[in-house]
Amino acid sequence: MSQGSSVPEPVTAVMDTAGAWLVRGLAEVETGLSEAVDRTGDLADRGTATLSAGGKRMRPMLVILCAGPDGGAPTIRAAVAVELIHTASLVHDDVLDRAPLRRGVPTIFSTDGRQTATSVGDALFAEAFGLLSRSGDMESVGTLSSTAVDLVRGELMQRAAAFDMELSEADYFTRCQLKTGSLFSAACVLGGQTGGAGDLEAMAGFGARVGLAFQLLDDVLDISGPADRTGKARGTDLLDGTVTLPVIEAIRTDESIAGIGMRDLDETSAGVLCDRIEETGALERVRSRALDLIGDAKSVLADSGLDRERVELLELVADGVVLRYS
Ligand code: IPE
Ligand code: IPE
Ligand code: MG
Ligand code: MG
Repeated sequence: MSQGSSVPEPVTAVMDTAGAWLVRGLAEVETGLSEAVDRTGDLADRGTATLSAGGKRMRPMLVILCAGPDGGAPTIRAAVAVELIHTASLVHDDVLDRAPLRRGVPTIFSTDGRQTATSVGDALFAEAFGLLSRSGDMESVGTLSSTAVDLVRGELMQRAAAFDMELSEADYFTRCQLKTGSLFSAACVLGGQTGGAGDLEAMAGFGARVGLAFQLLDDVLDISGPADRTGKARGTDLLDGTVTLPVIEAIRTDESIAGIGMRDLDETSAGVLCDRIEETGALERVRSRALDLIGDAKSVLADSGLDRERVELLELVADGVVLRYS
C-alpha cells in the first residue's frame, strides 16, 4: 500500500490476522477514496497523487475494526471520510510546515505552491463532509466536524508556539491530543457508532492514547529519520521551529540545546542538531513514554465490551504503531 514510503506496514500484520471482512473493507475504502477525489474536478490529479503515493491507512482501519464484521456501508463511508480528512490535513500541514516530502514524493506545496495546496486540502475536507451528508450519516458528520476543529486548533497552537524553546510538556501534549489524538479517537468512535457495538467512551479513550503515542513516535522519527524509511525529510520539525517532546527531553539533559537559535538552522545544521538530540538519549526516553501510552490504551480497550477478536486486532494495531519506530 505504501509505495512512496518504505515505512513498515502495521496494516499488513493486522490484515494477515483478521478475517476477509477487514481486507474487503479496506479495498472498499480505496474505491471510495478514488471516487471522492475524482469528484474534485480540476484538483483531482493532485489529490490522487497524494492518495496513491501511499499512506498506512491506519485511521480507516481503526474505523472498520471498531465497527466489526457487520459494519456495512455507513462504516465504509465513515472510514473514507476519516482518511479524506486526514489527507486534507496533511496537505495543509505541509503548507504550514513548509515540508518538501510526503509519502516519499514531493509535497503539493513544493510542486504547486501554497494556493494550490490550500485548495486541494479544502476540496478534500469538503468531499469528506459531502460524502457523509449526501448519505444522511449525520451522526458521523457531527463526530468528524468536531475533530476537524480540534485538528485546526492543534495546528494553530503549534504555529503560535513556533521557535519557543521553553514550550511546556503540558502544552505539547495538549497540542498532540488536538492535532492527532482527536482524529484517532474519532475513527474508533465512528466505528462504534456505525457498527453499533461496544462502549464508545472506551473506544474514544483507546484511540486518543494510540494517537498520542503515534504523534510522539512521529516526532522521534522526524529527528532520527532516515527519509527513505519515513517518506519525510529528516529535521523538518526543527527547520520549521516546531519544538517537540524529543527537544524538551534533550534540553533536560543538555541545557545548552535551549540556546540554539532555531531560526538560523539550515539543512546541515538541523542535521547536526538532530544528532545532538539523539546523543542525549532523548529519543529512547520519548519512545518509552509512547510505550506507556500504548499500555494504557490496551487497558482501556479491555473495558470496551468489544469481542475478543476485535480486541486482539486493535491490540495489534497499537503494537504496530510502536513497531514502526523500533
Ligand atoms: C502523519 O500520519 C501525520 C501524523 C499524525 C504524524 P501518518 O503517519 O498516518 O501518515 P500516512 O497516512 O501513513 O502517510
Ligand atoms: C501531524 O504533525 C500533522 C497533522 C495532524 C495534520 P506533523 O507535522 O508531525 O506530521 P508530519 O510529520 O508532517 O506527517
Ligand atoms: Mg508536518
Ligand atoms: Mg512529524
